[in-house]
Amino acid sequence: MPRYAHITGWGKYIPPGILTNHDLAKMVNTSDEWIRERTGIAERHIATAKETTAFMAIHAARDAVEVADMDPAKIDLIIVATATPEHCFPATACLVQDAIGATRAGGFDLSAGCSGFGYALATATGMIRSGMHNAVLVIGSETLSQLLDWDDRGTCILFGDGAGAVLLQGKDEPGGVLATSLGSDGSGGDLLIVPAGGSKHPASVETVTNKMHYVRMNGREVYRFATRVVASAARQVVQQAGWTFDKIDLFIPHQANVRIIDSAAKALKLPPEKVFVNLERYGNTSAASIPIALCEAIDANKVNPGDHLVMVGFGAGLTWAACAVQWSAPKRRALAAPRAFTRLRYGWFGLRSLLSKLFRHLDALLSRIIDFIERRPPAV
Ligand code: UT7
Repeated sequence: MPRYAHITGWGKYIPPGILTNHDLAKMVNTSDEWIRERTGIAERHIATAKETTAFMAIHAARDAVEVADMDPAKIDLIIVATATPEHCFPATACLVQDAIGATRAGGFDLSAGCSGFGYALATATGMIRSGMHNAVLVIGSETLSQLLDWDDRGTCILFGDGAGAVLLQGKDEPGGVLATSLGSDGSGGDLLIVPAGGSKHPASVETVTNKMHYVRMNGREVYRFATRVVASAARQVVQQAGWTFDKIDLFIPHQANVRIIDSAAKALKLPPEKVFVNLERYGNTSAASIPIALCEAIDANKVNPGDHLVMVGFGAGLTWAACAVQWSAPKRRALAAPRAFTRLRYGWFGLRSLLSKLFRHLDALLSRIIDFIERRPPAV
């Protein structure tokens, strides 16, 4: 019997620091008017050094787990979609696993640029529908501000930081993520790229001098690609779900440029009230944009049980990902546990993690001592 992957929890983390268009106009040759007109963005949130990709992912994940009233120990898998992981390795997902006390969960990061959340949602859905896993946490978390060349007005005005998460659980009742459609076109890989830091161009004086660790983008070409792919991916997933567009209650596109969103909405004949847009306040938060938008749509009472949602992401790769979701979660439930108890619980998870580290060191020390004693020449 096929199991359905239902979204039962959701959460987000937005760093409080704000960078407005006016602030940017003092840094590069741009203006509030140009940015608003060409992108729809007014301001974006920028993370502090403490608000790393893992930090934000952990906060978004904790909220999702609480909304779902889920014991973290029952989570089977954590997927973090990100283009800005905490490290090359270990995976950011493992840091989340440790911090939220998901003691039985596997974890990995997924790299699909701004389409990452859709890719992660599709992966999690496949695992639940196959019966492999029952509870999967899907997170999009990004600190794009760390990869921006703040002298490049073509990119630094677009991006912002943040994280969003959903918890997916398997159930027998039909609903949840009903269809997904993924695509890629590697021939456009150079259109949106961070050239260095990987195996082709490891960090060197030359890569740093040539600013090869920063985002490089051919904005015009990415724009052309996006206007083509968003509507076609949405059509594909709606057809796969067996729906028609008059059934769609809310379209949640990747928040990159309001002109891209408007062009897709027009092509799909969706009225403005059925299209969720929040990029004015956040800019493009890459893999975090759709889950953040979903959380805000829920808070704004734009998502109700039984609603038909379509989400479409696009970005580096080039990649695109569309998902059709029949919303099944009841209106946001009261938090399952009082805040103080929750804080205490996460405090304990932190302590447990420290103790694990300590025991590992002690174990290593003990092994070395035993080794030393065993190798010592016998006394004559
Ligand atoms: O998640 C996927 C990530 N990426 C995207 O979604 C990006 C998609 N692309 C875009 O959103 C748009 O292409 C941009 C917003 C990046 C650029 O808008 P555009 O209307 O395509 O501008 P353009 O690149 O064609 O440039 C037009 C002019 C140029 O000047 P000239 O050559 O006509 O004199 C640019 O140098 O605007 C200039 N320009 C700016 N002017 C003021 C480019 N950036 C800026 C700026 N402020 N920030």
